[in-house]
Order: sequence, then C-alpha cells, then structure tokens
Amino acid sequence: MPVDVLLGLQWGDEGKGKIVDVLAPQYDVVARFQGGPNAGHTLEFNGIKHVLHQIPSGIFREDIVNIIGNGVVLDPVILKREIEDLGQFNIDLKKNLFISKKAQIITPTHRMLDAAYEKSKGDQKIGSTLKGIGPTYQDKIGRLGLRIGDSLLSTFKQKYLKLQQHHKNILEFYRADTNTDSLDNEFFEAIEFLKQFNIVDSEYLINDYLHKGKKVLAEGAQGSLLDVDFGSYPFVTSSSTTCAGACTGLGIAPSQIGEVYGIFKAYCTRVGSGPFPTELHDEAGELMRKEGAEFGATTGRPRRCGWLDLPALKYATMINGVTQLLMMKADVLNIFEELEVCSSYLVDGEKTDHFPFDSANQEIVPQYEKLPGWHQSLQGINKIDSLPPALSKYKRQIEKNTNVPISLVSIGPDRTQTIMD
Ligand code: GDP
Ligand code: IMO
Ligand code: MG
Repeated sequence: MPVDVLLGLQWGDEGKGKIVDVLAPQYDVVARFQGGPNAGHTLEFNGIKHVLHQIPSGIFREDIVNIIGNGVVLDPVILKREIEDLGQFNIDLKKNLFISKKAQIITPTHRMLDAAYEKSKGDQKIGSTLKGIGPTYQDKIGRLGLRIGDSLLSTFKQKYLKLQQHHKNILEFYRADTNTDSLDNEFFEAIEFLKQFNIVDSEYLINDYLHKGKKVLAEGAQGSLLDVDFGSYPFVTSSSTTCAGACTGLGIAPSQIGEVYGIFKAYCTRVGSGPFPTELHDEAGELMRKEGAEFGATTGRPRRCGWLDLPALKYATMINGVTQLLMMKADVLNIFEELEVCSSYLVDGEKTDHFPFDSANQEIVPQYEKLPGWHQSLQGINKIDSLPPALSKYKRQIEKNTNVPISLVSIGPDRTQTIMD
C-alpha cells in the first residue's frame, strides 16, 4: 500500500489538523513526520475544539494507530501535558499512540537557547515559537542530540547533563540565564511518565503495516514556505516540511508515496516575521483576521493576512508533487464583494511567476487580478458541483494555474463543514 501525505502549502496553519481528522477514518495509521510543539493543529467536532501540538490528529478516531515519527522533535513536558489533557476523552493512548525511539528530545536548555538566539537577532528575529525547535534540530544535525530511545538507557541522565553543560556554555556566551533547577525536575518527571507508552522502532512498525496492506496517512506540520530548504529562508522553521520530509521523517521509501494532499487557505496568513508578498495592512486584512479568527493556535499571536498568492502556491505544488489540492476557509471570504489574487510578481522591477531566491531582501510587488466574490453563505452546500458560480470560478482559476484539481473545499472549522468530491 502507498503512503498518502497531507501537508501545508503556505506558511502553516492551513487547517491540517481539521483535515487529517476528517480523512483519518479512511486510514489505519496516522503518522507525524516532522516539526514538534511549534505546531498547533486544531480539530472541531460536537461543539468542542481541540488543539494538538505533537500528538497526530488521528487520535480522536477509534482504532487508528497514531505514530510520532523519527523526524519529529519532541518535548516530553509538553507531550505529558497533552496526554493528560486527553485523559477526559476516553482514548486508549497506551494502545493507539506510538513514539519513535529516534525522535529527538527537546530539553529545557534547547528552549532557553531558542530565546537567547532570537534575542541576539534583534529586529532580524525569526519570530520563533520559542519551543526549542531550531536548537534541537541543530543538535540533531550536529550529532549531539538526545533521542527518545536514549531515555530508556541507564546512561541517560549522564548524557543529558553533558549536553546541558554544552548548552550552558553557549547561554553564558549570550549572557542568558542558565538556571534549570525546577525545569530539570519537570523534565525527568515527564521522561518517566512517557515510559508507560509505546516507544518503538517506528520505521519497522510503519513498514510492517504497509506490508500488511494497511493504509498510512503522513501528517505534516508547518508549511512549504517555512521549509528549511525551500521556504523564505532564513525566516523558516528548521525541518523539511515538504513531501520528501515524510520519507526521512518516517523511514518510508520515496517510491511508496501515493497521494499528496496539498492544503491551502483561500487566502494567505503568516505568523512570525519574514517576507509575505501579498500581506494586507488595510481593512481587508483586518476583516480576514476577524472573520478567520486568525490568531496562532500555539502562541496566540495575531496572524498576518493577505490575498492568495498563486506563484507561491504553484511553487509549493511543484516541490511537493501535489496530486490533490484542498482549499480551506473559503467561508472567510464570503464577506468580500470582490477578491484579488496575485498571479505574478515584479521582483526588482522584473515580471516573474517564480518565488524569488532572496524573498526577504528583494523588492516583491504582487500583480493582482480581480475576481468577483460569491458574497453569500456557503453553509448547507454539500457538493463541489453546487458551489456558487463565483466560487467555482475562483477554484478554476487556481486549478488552471497549478494544474492540480481541488478535491475538497472547507467552509468552517467543524468536521462536518467539509465539501468533498
Ligand atoms: P493547522 O496548523 O494547519 O492544523 O491549522 P490551525 O489549527 O493552526 O489553524 C486553522 C484554524 O482555522 C483553526 O482555528 C481551525 O479551527 C480553523 N479552520 C479550519 N478550517 C476552517 C474553515 O474551513 N473555515 C473556518 N472559518 N475555519 C477553519
Ligand atoms: P502548524 O503545524 C505557523 C513559524 C513561527 C516562526 C517560524 C520559526 O500549526 O502549521 P520555529 O518555532 O519553528 O523555530 O519558528 O515558523 N511557525 C509556524 N507558523 N504554523 C506553524 O505550525 C508553525 N510552526 C512554526 O511563527 O515564524
Ligand atoms: Mg497551526
């Protein structure tokens, strides 16, 4: 069986959590392949909203195996809290949750380093979620990191203290606080707590499932424009958020990738700093933020809003080999009589539809096309064929540009507010 991949095509927060939850009943396994607690994936059903950070978004569906893959950086303290918060929902996590031995551990000093590095950048700061993501991936690549499987060894505390001392030396250089007393206790409590769950060689587990004909959905975090290679560098996260990341982050072969679901909002948002060509600083941007409740699920920060950026969407579609596009939050645009869509850029005065190399420093002037708004409620529509003509036209415009069909339109945060082909 192939592995289907669902990933964000913009700067994150496209609605991945909602759609993984919607699609999960078609799968046996849902597996997160990268990122960590910087993610905030929201699901809504039966009038309740849930925000998951590290636990895969298939967790509310019965009998689905949820795997935290080797590509993830895991904060044990945050995971313990997430697991405890799920306590009230009668989910058998000891049966349904599997954690890769090879997932890297975020320690308290990784978080402290994240803050120290950000502070040192002054007005060039990334706007990191301060969850320790960058420093933990740095240690992974630098071959210093601690892995979840290490926590099962008798030498773990020793390894931890060695890495911590290394971090404290760097923190001193940055004149940052180095006191970790209460944080160490909390960390080791969480490490002990996690030992009751399945800590496994997840690459074997996933491949065994595939051999048995089980269906696996790989869940991405963040979005392609935050990818460490292809995003708006250096204003990116520190992992491979694109489709290739699912292979390295889970231990599956590229030849096993099946459908690639690329998920995007009908407009754009970004949280944190960095380039955003179509960002709106006017009333239209305010309206999107208000209608779309655009506030970060992890940090609560207001999200920057702007019109849909087709060159960026085409770029992300190309990098990921997207086979199906899923358009989210169409309902947020109901209020507009007229919509704008960026179809090309003027980069340093030259027209192009390529996402520029140095997007942080080049002058990018989006070139817009105007399209009529649908200007009506979308509730109650349950077939893609029944969309209002203006929304069908908007959809066709995106399909024509990307050459990929849109197979799902989302019209609200709830599971049920989803129109599928
Ligand atoms: P993720 O990180 O990609 O999972 O996305 P987030 O959960 O961070 O942000 C998406 C937000 O939009 C959440 O608050 C969702 O509940 C909400 N949402 C998802 N789909 C829709 C939709 O179609 N319409 C509206 N209005 N809200 C949606
Ligand atoms: P989900 O999975 C939106 C952004 C941060 C910052 C940059 C680097 O919910 O879509 P990091 O903490 O990763 O070092 O921050 O990336 N960022 C996200 N923005 N959604 C996310 O995740 C994000 N995860 C990180 O705001 O600009
Ligand atoms: Mg999010």
